[in-house]
Amino acid sequence: MVKKLYITTAIDYANGKPHIGHAYEKILADAMTRMFRLQGRDVQFMTGLDEHGLKVSQSAEKAGIPELEHCNNIADDFKNLCKNLTVDYDRYIRTTEPEHKRVVRDCLQKLYDAGDIYKADYSGLYSKTAERFVLEKDKINGKWPSDYGEVVEISETNYFFKLKKYQSWLVEYVESHPEFIFPEFRARQVLEFLKEPINDLCISRPKHRLSWGIELPFDSEYVTYVWFDALVNYVTGANYFGENFSDCWPADYHVIGKDIVVPAHAVYWPIILHALDIAIPKTLLTHGWWLVSGEKMSKSAGNVVNPLEFAEKFGTDAFRYYLLREMTVGQDCDFSPDRFAIRYTSDLANDLGNLVSRLLNMCHRYCGGAVKDFGPFGEPENRMRRLWETSVPEIISSYNEFAFHSALEKLFSCVRAVNSYVEERSPWKLAKSDGEIDRQLIDTTIAIISECVRIAAILLLPVMPTISKKILDVLGYGGEVNWDSGVRFDNFLAGNRLAESSILFPRVD
Ligand code: MSP
Repeated sequence: MVKKLYITTAIDYANGKPHIGHAYEKILADAMTRMFRLQGRDVQFMTGLDEHGLKVSQSAEKAGIPELEHCNNIADDFKNLCKNLTVDYDRYIRTTEPEHKRVVRDCLQKLYDAGDIYKADYSGLYSKTAERFVLEKDKINGKWPSDYGEVVEISETNYFFKLKKYQSWLVEYVESHPEFIFPEFRARQVLEFLKEPINDLCISRPKHRLSWGIELPFDSEYVTYVWFDALVNYVTGANYFGENFSDCWPADYHVIGKDIVVPAHAVYWPIILHALDIAIPKTLLTHGWWLVSGEKMSKSAGNVVNPLEFAEKFGTDAFRYYLLREMTVGQDCDFSPDRFAIRYTSDLANDLGNLVSRLLNMCHRYCGGAVKDFGPFGEPENRMRRLWETSVPEIISSYNEFAFHSALEKLFSCVRAVNSYVEERSPWKLAKSDGEIDRQLIDTTIAIISECVRIAAILLLPVMPTISKKILDVLGYGGEVNWDSGVRFDNFLAGNRLAESSILFPRVD
């Protein structure tokens, strides 16, 4: 069995409504899944919900309902988000699933038996929002970072995982596996963090302080730390206890935001896996944050962007396009409704939408609605062929480097070149003459445009799955949909009847 490509996202906290950050991450992972499938890979794509811990327990209390009921409601919201954004996961994991609890307890027991977990008294500062112990040195200009929320002093007996025992192993691992953290500059941040000695990780919470969690297998007075529980979701989802675990594991891409790289995914997670003798995931694909006017989104600032509002107004695919076109994976990006409107009108409605609608219109007006064979090529036709022959590999390679913004930039520059070709040939002028040569040229022009649109649609599939499919449908294309023979420049549509019209991107006020 060939190993599947296993792509995961962070699992979202079950303590609020989904926002644009959640939406982006799921769309990015979904687009990656689609792009690998178009290249013949068998992909398993998992996302899910992180349901334990203090924050979730407090939100349930605020809502006046039991924790699980609260999580069920939030799971509905997040699954609904995926559905509305055409995020087609293969598995949606919830950390309250019995199977997941079994895996977490098994991992904890193994680490305990191996002597990697010990009990000790601890006094320290605890961040209620980050749900972990923090240190004075984490303060920035004498203040706690805002995402720490309230920081309180706590003294209690807890269980600790021997993190520092593995610190030098991790440094060597990160240094010798440049593909482990993408983009590369984040790996440097991780190594910077590892220059200082790290502390062992407190992996328990006494039940009297927090009961909403998975009970330790070796002490029923405690539940496990929310991050230990959450990280293990990735192996649960690969069917940890099953014989087919190695079909998916090690994961190929953990798609996560920049805030949970250090220490959670780049320090705790590889060390937990190494201590358990489980292979380390290939790549942490870390993205930046969506900001609003340069600021972090927050309920208190009242600037939280609801993704479904935009998807509803402009269409899901336009929303996906905007997010993947604007953000360079790894960097932060400002969410701007004005820029959204410009992209919608100029790239989507004008460049792509008009091209498709003109093609259908001209095909019916000048060619009886059916695409004909290519006739002899002039220089403009040769140029179109060369354009795709050089651009297709470049676009695919940008996708494969996760440079979605650049893949789309190149693709839309091809679309604009096709629009220029339409102007150059101006079939409406050719149609005024009855000459044999012009007749043949109109047929060839329409066939060329159809072929260009077909290739563009297949290359757009990861980003705009519904619109691309719609374009292939109006072209009557039933051939191969892949990034191999399916994107070769040839007259694949000869003989096809095209739909009469199609409005892909309606005017939005
Ligand atoms: N539950 C943890 C993750 C556990 S993974 C084993 C968590 N949840 S979260 O709901 O706070 O965040 C989920 C994901 O959304 C994270 O990858 C986070 O970086 C991402 N984003 C949250 N806000 C974001 C933006 N404003 N922009 C982009 N992504 C952001 O962390």
